Amino acid sequence: MTDFVLYDAAEIAVGPGVDEPIETIEDAAIAVADGEVVAVGPTDEITREHPPENAADSLDASGNAVVPGFVDPHTHALFAGDRSDEFEAKLRGKTYQEILADGGGILKSVRAVREASEDELVSNLLGHLDTMLAHGTTTVEVKSGYGLDTETELRMLAATGRADEQHPVDVVPTFMGAHAVPQGRDADDYVDEVCEEQIPAAAEQGIATFCDVFCEEGVFSVEQSRRVLKVGREHGMTPKVHAEELAHIGGTKLAAELGATSADHLLHSTEEDVDALVEADVIPVLLPGTAFGLGAEYADARGMLDQGAPVAIATDFNPNCHSHSMGFAQSLACVGMRMTPAEALRASTTNAAAALDLGARTGTLRERAPADFAVVDAPSFRHVPYQYGTNLVETVVKAGERVHG
Ligand code: NIG
Ligand code: FE
Repeated sequence: MTDFVLYDAAEIAVGPGVDEPIETIEDAAIAVADGEVVAVGPTDEITREHPPENAADSLDASGNAVVPGFVDPHTHALFAGDRSDEFEAKLRGKTYQEILADGGGILKSVRAVREASEDELVSNLLGHLDTMLAHGTTTVEVKSGYGLDTETELRMLAATGRADEQHPVDVVPTFMGAHAVPQGRDADDYVDEVCEEQIPAAAEQGIATFCDVFCEEGVFSVEQSRRVLKVGREHGMTPKVHAEELAHIGGTKLAAELGATSADHLLHSTEEDVDALVEADVIPVLLPGTAFGLGAEYADARGMLDQGAPVAIATDFNPNCHSHSMGFAQSLACVGMRMTPAEALRASTTNAAAALDLGARTGTLRERAPADFAVVDAPSFRHVPYQYGTNLVETVVKAGERVHG
C-alpha cells in the first residue's frame, strides 16, 4: 500500500534536470512507500494509480510548492550558551580574530561546552534540530570542536549520535578537534594531541564520518591541517577543510590535494584554487550567512559556477552565525552572491548532499529518492529565497512520515 500521497501541488521541484538547473512539474502529485518516492508526476496520472483515499496519509497541497528537504552540509549546531555580547562587539568594529585572540569566540563556546553535561548537549541540539526541521531541513551535518580536549570532543560526538537517534532530521557527524588552538597551548603541541589521542579515541567511539580542520592564518597552517586530515583518513574519517575564510593560505589546494569531500567558506579563493577543486571533484560549500554576519565580502559563487563547480550552500549555524534557515541562506546566495533561485535550490539539495557523500538521489524527489520534502506556502520554489526573512515551510515529510506541520 502507498503510505503517503500528496496531490494537487501547484509545483513539485523534483531536482536538477538534464539541461535545466531544476526540473519542476506543475499541478503535481507524489506517492511514497517504505520511506521512498515511488511515483511523481501530474496529479491525475499519479492519483489514478495511487488514490489518496487508499493511502495511510494524504495531503491536499493546492496552492503550494513542494521542494526536496534541504540538506545543510556545514554547521556547528552543538554548543552551549550564546555569544550575543560578541554580536554587539562586532557591530562596534571588533573583528572575529580580535575576539578569538582575547579568549572569546570559539574559546568562549569551548568553556561553556566543557561545563555542559552530555544530557544538556543532547537537549540543546534537539532544540536546534526542531527549528531546522521547521525551516525545511531534513539532513544536517554537525561538527564537534567546542571541546578541544579528548573527553569533551568525545562527549560532543556522543551527544550528536544520541540526538540523531532521537530526532527525525538525519545528522551527519564530523570530528573537528582542530577547530582552534586551546588557550595557553602551542599549536604544534595541540596538533600532536589531536592526531595521537583525539582522532584514535573518536575513531574507536566510531561515530564521526568526516574530519574537518580550521586551516586559517593564526589557527592551523596548511602543514598542520594536512597532518590532521591524513591521520583522520587513516582512522576512517573523510577530510573536509575550512579554507580561505579570513585569509588566503592554501587550504583550498590542500582540499584538492587530499581529495577532500568539500572545501568550505572560500571567501578568498582564487580562480586557480577553484580549478583545482573542480579537477579533484571537491564540492565548494559556501556559507553566505557567515559573510553576512562578519560584514565580509561574499564568496565568488558566480565565478565558481562559471568554472563548472557544483556549488553547495550551508547555514554554518553556530554561535557566531545564528541562523537555522536554509531559506535565508538561499536569499543571501541570491542577493549577496547573485545565484539564481534554481542554483540556490540545487546548492541546498543535490550539491549539498554531494558535500556529505550522500547518494545521488538524496536532495531530489525522483523515483526511489528518500521521501524527504517540504511543502511551502507559495506556488513556486522561487519564493523561498524571494520572500526573505519569512519561513514559508508549512509541512515537512521525512522518510515518508509527516514530521512537522
Ligand atoms: O565555520 N571558522 C570556524 N568555524 C566556524 C565558526 C565557529 C565559531 O565561531 O564558533 C565557521 O564559521
Ligand atoms: Fe565552520
